Amino acid sequence: MISNIPLFPMSGPILGIETSCDETAAAILGADGSVVANVVASQHAIHERFGGVVPELASRAHIEMIERVVLAALEEAKMSWDSLAGIAVTQGPGLAGALIVGVHYAKTLAYILGLPLVGVSHLDAHIASAWLENPEFPLPCIVLVVSGGHTHLYRRDLQGTSHLLGCTRDDAAGEAFDKGAQMLGLGFPGGPALDRLARTGNRAVISFPKSSLKKGSLEFSFSGLKTALLYKLQAMDDSERGERRADLAAGYQEAIVTVLVDKALLAVEQTGIRSLAVVGGVSANTRLRMLLQERVRASHVRLSIPPLRFCTDNAAMVAAAGRQAFAAGRRMAIDAEPFTTVEPILATASMTTKEVSHS
Ligand code: KG4
Ligand code: ZN
Repeated sequence: MISNIPLFPMSGPILGIETSCDETAAAILGADGSVVANVVASQHAIHERFGGVVPELASRAHIEMIERVVLAALEEAKMSWDSLAGIAVTQGPGLAGALIVGVHYAKTLAYILGLPLVGVSHLDAHIASAWLENPEFPLPCIVLVVSGGHTHLYRRDLQGTSHLLGCTRDDAAGEAFDKGAQMLGLGFPGGPALDRLARTGNRAVISFPKSSLKKGSLEFSFSGLKTALLYKLQAMDDSERGERRADLAAGYQEAIVTVLVDKALLAVEQTGIRSLAVVGGVSANTRLRMLLQERVRASHVRLSIPPLRFCTDNAAMVAAAGRQAFAAGRRMAIDAEPFTTVEPILATASMTTKEVSHS
């Protein structure tokens, strides 16, 4: 049984595998926690014409790509199978069929190679990405996870355990970007397209509601923003919509990123913790990164945002979260299955400060 392998902190390279949505990814972390290979096969071209991820097509593409992507990671790292000391795989949350491909591939590989295996939460993996190139970033810290499915604010304590402070009541920030982009007639994935268009617009000329809910609340709501965009578009004729598209994108984006930054800094203020990590696909957003830099500089808060390649889904972050989980003594049972809710792994994730700060 894989789960009966004796417990020991990982002393060698870890292979990370990610297949929770529409990226097939494999990465290898060296024994010191540095990224020695990071390979991502994006399925955007497959889903583009449907305007969103088609789960069945995603699963099939993962099956086709997984072996090639893992072999490419080994080649990039100039390693062979027997160099590996452990395997970490995204166990959830995500698309059930997509997760099954990665989890079963990882289980098979671990069994054949006789390696320990650990399942990690996709959220924990995004959180771990903040330390990939910034291993000395301090704990405790506030973490904002902003992706296609999540807008979650956490307090991460000295032990590396995440405590939820607030999350979205409706759409995730990434969904707000994707749906806004769709309304503006932009391609898939919408977030990066809206980001690009907004750079050519004026964010000050068309204003959008910035929902902060109750005073002092750390929860988010983006559904009203979407409706506001719809009404603005309906009130314009075709030529005006064309002319003002970039300004609409810039104003809409500004409303999302302002709320994200306001709430993240509110969490800093409320907790007195003066370190902030911002992770997940939306943290690749140009304007969000700029605004965060400006605001943390003004309020003397330490900030960690991963480089772009570690913001959107990748397996380096999975290997990093796996490294912490191995050190905490966790292993995946051979009969474990993917999960689709957030809680199971986050609730049990615990690791030492030392491990976190050197991951
Ligand atoms: O973390 P991620 O790659 O996958 C999930 O876990 O969901 O995040 C994907 C989300 C999508 O909604 C995508 O549109 C958004 O991140 N995104 C962006 C940017 N790059 C990706 N949103 C705004 N600006 C970007 N540059
Ligand atoms: Zn993600």
